[in-house]
Amino acid sequence: MSSDKLQALSAEGLSYSVGAQTLLDNVRLHAEQGQFVGLIGPNGAGKSTLLRALSGMLVHQHGAVLLEGTDLRSMSSRDVAAGMALVSQIAPYTHGFTSFELVLMGRYPHLGRFQIEGSKDNSIARDSMRQTDTERFADRTLDTLSGGERQRVFVSRALAQQPRILLLDEPTSNLDVFHQLKVLDLVRELVDEGLTAVAAIHDLQMSARYCDRLVLLSEGRVLAEGTPEEVLTPGAIESAFGVRSAVYPDPVTGTLAISLIGPADAHASPASDNGAPAPVEKAPVAAHGVEA
Ligand SMILES: Nc1ncnc2c1ncn2[C@@H]1O[C@H](COP(=O)(O)OP(=O)(O)O)[C@@H](O)[C@H]1O
Ligand SMILES: [Mg+2]
Repeated sequence: MSSDKLQALSAEGLSYSVGAQTLLDNVRLHAEQGQFVGLIGPNGAGKSTLLRALSGMLVHQHGAVLLEGTDLRSMSSRDVAAGMALVSQIAPYTHGFTSFELVLMGRYPHLGRFQIEGSKDNSIARDSMRQTDTERFADRTLDTLSGGERQRVFVSRALAQQPRILLLDEPTSNLDVFHQLKVLDLVRELVDEGLTAVAAIHDLQMSARYCDRLVLLSEGRVLAEGTPEEVLTPGAIESAFGVRSAVYPDPVTGTLAISLIGPADAHASPASDNGAPAPVEKAPVAAHGVEA
């Protein structure tokens, strides 16, 4: 990693436990300005917990999160929100609000203490809805939208916040394939214009296609970190997910394609009780040639 690049967001030695369970164990993550970092890993790996810690919503017990070099704990929540937005995996309770009202709430960190939204805020909110193809839902209450439509409205709210850093927790999990591509294309476009994005992405192929770097989490620990080619090896996929795979360049899109062959045998299941990495068997095909 080049040291002259601005670290938009970084976490060092991040640990978080609840009772006896360690949800984050000495996690390190760096996102340079203008980078799209993907968080991947099985259910329960700690992706949402990490995003919540990065956003300042969850107070970690050890380590530090730096937003453009400043420790989050020394910043007001308004200053954090003016720089960084989080789109949660589970939409918060929003009974009775219209889509437009929700998106307009994204303007809150940019308003003065007793200031109400003005025409500039309204037009930013409209633009954000246009970007996610949700304008036609503006006057509808959120409870009348489908899961995927609501998810896109929450992305619009984060865009209306005009953050420098955007955190997204599985932003495409409820979306049809068209809107998955639209939302990730949009994030990629914003990243190319200078936004920094960190997103938990369920679909490994999508993560490889859109992200500059990937962080593979398993049981609260970083198993691998690097470019998609470095991280998405059959060995790493097997240790994290317990699935044998073949990884090769997609002949059509040019990014990594992953064929899931099947569950690895019982001895190689992920999340072994003693926390030791599961034994890794070589997948039958490793066409892109990078072995874990
Ligand atoms: N407040 C909590 N108390 C106890 N366990 C929790 C709490 N929040 C999350 N967990 C557990 O921590 C693990 C990581 O959760 P999460 O970060 O949501 O995983 P992911 O997003 O990768 O699926 C899971 O096993 C989950 O059940
Ligand atoms: Mg999650």
